Amino acid sequence: MDVRKEIIDFFQKNGMLIQPDAVELIIERGGVRECYGILERMEEKPLIVSADIIRRYLTEDFAEKTTAASRKEVFVVQEEKVRRGDFKILRDVTGNSTCEGKIEDFVQLFRNRFEKLSAFLRKRQEMRNAVPIKKALRSSEEIATIGIVREVVSSSNGVVVEIEDEEESMKVFVPKNVDSMIVQDEVIGVVGKKKGDLFIVKSVVRPEIPVERRKNVSDIEEYVLFLSDLHVGSKSFLDKEWERFIEWINGRKGNERQREVSKKVKYVVVCGDDVEGVGIYPGQEEDLIIEDLYEQYEELAKKLEGIPPEIKILLQPGNHDAVRPALPQPAFEKEIRDLFSHLNITFVGNPCYFKIGETVVLAYHGQSIQDFATYIPNMNQNQPTKIMREMLKRRHMAPIYGSISSLAPEKEDFMVIDVVPDIFVTGHVHVTAVEQYRDVILLNASAWQSQTEYQRMMNFMPDPAKAIVVNLRTLMPSIISFT
Ligand SMILES: [Fe+2]
Repeated sequence: MDVRKEIIDFFQKNGMLIQPDAVELIIERGGVRECYGILERMEEKPLIVSADIIRRYLTEDFAEKTTAASRKEVFVVQEEKVRRGDFKILRDVTGNSTCEGKIEDFVQLFRNRFEKLSAFLRKRQEMRNAVPIKKALRSSEEIATIGIVREVVSSSNGVVVEIEDEEESMKVFVPKNVDSMIVQDEVIGVVGKKKGDLFIVKSVVRPEIPVERRKNVSDIEEYVLFLSDLHVGSKSFLDKEWERFIEWINGRKGNERQREVSKKVKYVVVCGDDVEGVGIYPGQEEDLIIEDLYEQYEELAKKLEGIPPEIKILLQPGNHDAVRPALPQPAFEKEIRDLFSHLNITFVGNPCYFKIGETVVLAYHGQSIQDFATYIPNMNQNQPTKIMREMLKRRHMAPIYGSISSLAPEKEDFMVIDVVPDIFVTGHVHVTAVEQYRDVILLNASAWQSQTEYQRMMNFMPDPAKAIVVNLRTLMPSIISFT
């Protein structure tokens, strides 16, 4: 058995939810055998086991422990009345689409992207004195300029990149050791100098997110739970595991502490591919147990009926769902929404920014994860949080036009990361991943479908039937497995 899974299971069996960094610490300091000692030395069992808690009980550190009293205060489980933080959608294409489907509108989309992202770049120290490309072309001094990447051509020692602003374009040479991760249609700043006819880049600057910022936390302990890729209607939907999840969320399964968490879940976010859909890939009919799209949504409604009605469900579409495939995707149309009218559901678009209490969440199905994996060296779709970092650095979720994920010619670019979220969640690649980048929690929510033949071909390595819960008071994520 995988050592990480073994450690997670060990703590789960003992009524605790262990955080990913705590698992890594245990592996680093001796592995699974350390778990027994840690458990023995614990005076009280905390609900959430953080790396800090593990550090207190590791063999070599235990002798010089703090007093019992100071240890105890870590484990005080807050007995607070749970009230629901206010929910608000901050940004969503639903009802705000300006797309007429005209090819000329792409000009407007890219202009808007350039405006938004160059404004972020101008705030960067290195770009304070950035000049338009027209001026950079005439200069022989070291100079900074900003452009949208039109073309990237690899050479043996770097890439030749064509950048463009509102009036001019220029070719720049980026040596391999300066940056090898430039993708088409992202907006970058370059600092460099002309050498003969070629502009040699010394550094590439990206819009980026701040190193530090104030986290927007709730003053009460409540949880938001993330799911994705249910694929209801597929023969590979994990029925038994879903039933276990429903039992747990109703407080009927799991030990006392796990049940305590389930009682405090106030929101369930489903990040797309809610149903399997029809005609999504060649030969999909073979994989369907429900062949009619509407019946798939009816079945999804039945599945979601198991979630207690006081929990609000946010339902987002993905590439398998019954909305336009191009990004950004609006929420479901009325005829689908009506199938869920008896449930406590808010339908959102993809992507969607929303706020729970003070916490800002950016939920995005994640279609472009595969584009990043294709165009950036050493990126892998099975490590989505690594790719989500690249999205945050570029302040853009899907820069590459004309690749796997398609973009709609909206007049405003909804894929720009205008606001830095507290939680950034994706799905789509069917793995479960938790990470932090700067002060943003990155999550890839698990799927509820086992590996299909098509996914095997596409190199999808699923890690299904897990729920990620985030405590909105601490923004600490934990994974609960239902396998
Ligand atoms: Fe999916």
